[in-house]
Amino acid sequence: MNAPTALKEFLDAQEKKTLLRFLTCGSVDDGKSTLIGRLLYDTKLLFEDTLASLEKDSKKFGTDGDNIDFALLVDGLEAEREQGITIDVAYRFFATDKRKFIVADTPGHEQYTRNMATGASNSDLAVILIDARKGVLVQSRRHAYIASLLGIRHVVLAVNKIDLVDYSQKVFDDIVADFRAFSAKLGFVTEVAIPLSARYGINVMEKSAETPWYQGTSLLEHLETVDVDAALTDKPFRLPVQWVNRPNLDFRGFSGTIAGGRVKPGDTVVVAKSGKASTVTRIVTQDGDLPEAVAGDAITLTLADEVDISRGDVLAAPDARPAVSSQFAAHLLWMAEEELLPGRQYLMKVGTAMVPAQMSALKYKVDVNTLEHMAGKTLALNEVGYGNFSTAQPLVFDPYRDNRDTGGFILIDRFTNATVAAGMIDFSLMRATNVHWQALDVNKDARAAMKGQRPVILWFTGLSGSGKSTIANLVEKKLAAEGKHTSLLDGDNVRHGLNRDLGFTDADRVENIRRVGEVAKLFVDSGTIVLTAFISPFRSERRMVREVVGAGEFVEVFVDTPIEVCMQRDPKGLYEKAKAGKIKNFTGIDSPYEAPEVAELNIKTVTGDTEIHAQRIVDYLRDRGYLG
Ligand code: ADX
Repeated sequence: MNAPTALKEFLDAQEKKTLLRFLTCGSVDDGKSTLIGRLLYDTKLLFEDTLASLEKDSKKFGTDGDNIDFALLVDGLEAEREQGITIDVAYRFFATDKRKFIVADTPGHEQYTRNMATGASNSDLAVILIDARKGVLVQSRRHAYIASLLGIRHVVLAVNKIDLVDYSQKVFDDIVADFRAFSAKLGFVTEVAIPLSARYGINVMEKSAETPWYQGTSLLEHLETVDVDAALTDKPFRLPVQWVNRPNLDFRGFSGTIAGGRVKPGDTVVVAKSGKASTVTRIVTQDGDLPEAVAGDAITLTLADEVDISRGDVLAAPDARPAVSSQFAAHLLWMAEEELLPGRQYLMKVGTAMVPAQMSALKYKVDVNTLEHMAGKTLALNEVGYGNFSTAQPLVFDPYRDNRDTGGFILIDRFTNATVAAGMIDFSLMRATNVHWQALDVNKDARAAMKGQRPVILWFTGLSGSGKSTIANLVEKKLAAEGKHTSLLDGDNVRHGLNRDLGFTDADRVENIRRVGEVAKLFVDSGTIVLTAFISPFRSERRMVREVVGAGEFVEVFVDTPIEVCMQRDPKGLYEKAKAGKIKNFTGIDSPYEAPEVAELNIKTVTGDTEIHAQRIVDYLRDRGYLG
């Protein structure tokens, strides 16, 4: 069956009912899949062929004797079945007479927090499953916290397997009290606890006689009636522009999915970044023009005026504009094995815009058990932190609490292209809005002309002891002898001043190079030839520096000396100490070095002498016109 088509037909048929999107989260054995299977089965939305294969599979894999094992219904993937765990987000849909539902089934394993975050960002309510025998676990707290972080305001605490604790009210009450002590800080608007047994259908569809002490409704009744009031249509109008649709000279439309509010022909809209206003003339869709469109609709707008708009811009209500800023504070859920390094550049995707960005300061990490704030320099897999971000170009956004579509972002690793984090914007940092670039009359070209040279960064990278400083020093001497204006930034020296607060963790090295890159750029602006000698072990940061200056202003010089040779030379006796465990995080010993893939110059110091290498670099500069 083609899921999207079936979903569409289903939704079309159900158009008049309200829709509740919810997610279920729980630990692996809490019975989550069984619960969803039970809901789907009992609302009779199973197709005949699915049922037949379910009966067959229950005999093969089931853990429930000859009865149908509902978990098999939802644990669709072979791999999952064989391992007995759920490993991806699966969306199911079902309906009752009162409401239609989309349920995101997300895995409970800690390493799958990413899937839970994905499910939560699309849901209005979370069903948090607890095994009555085990009570509230670290996982349960994590799930509740992440749900709240991702904007969910309604939770159901489903205390499952109540049959296995003899339908004990005391067990139930204790679990509820335990959970509430934690969740009180999370700001949920509704929080309903229900004792149930997914396997036997206790309090799932209807209230059961087994729990006479329970005063509330069944799970389904609650889901049918809970008022989540998530009406995105009541929010200010937002259309993140996905693409500019220009099939011929007579038509220019702006296409995207409305992320908030509603729009009609005749409405005034503004381009968030430029502030330019125009009037909507048409709302074009595949099925013809619309008199009005609302949040969730994919449309193309045409405007009365020729305004400059491109992908990543946001069309917005003039009286309630989004923020435009390159600095903001946000929560971050880190989802990669490799830790977050503040200062490193990632790609940030907010709506349809994608820009280079970095966390400029990690303010604190959050202990998901206690919600306490802890100091931290990095974030590891599944950790949550709060900090400031800065982006290479201004972004258009809303606080996440106001709009999850325009206030949420993801970070993408620039080398692997993997999604490494999900972020929730808190607020714009206003300090950026009052600081503007000053136009200077004496510019880089003028300064360079006075010095009779073209500015450039000669970026030496290589292991400690590879010969970076020695060669850079000689190159500078040769340039000085020709009357060139130079400056040499050397690792050991800079670490006595500007960077004396930094050590040798990955995070500190990233920050070290970020600062040096900024300083080198200032020197380039002054028309100077800058030589830098830093191990600079990561490709990411070397690339970042390359990108902050203009084309041809960054020349990477790889001082390519094998580690054995560096160890043998050991000019400062540091390798000896590192091997003896007296220095930690030593590059090449217990800290990585990522050699350049393509450097402009590759210097092999095992052959030739310093004089030859230095001359080669000077010749390189002269041949390419840097020396005037
Ligand atoms: S970088 O990795 O952040 O680029 P940088 O070039 O500034 O390093 O500093 C490297 C110099 O610091 C080395 O040449 C060495 O003299 C000294 N040093 C001290 N501890 C370490 C260490 N753990 N790893 C590498 N270099 C170290």
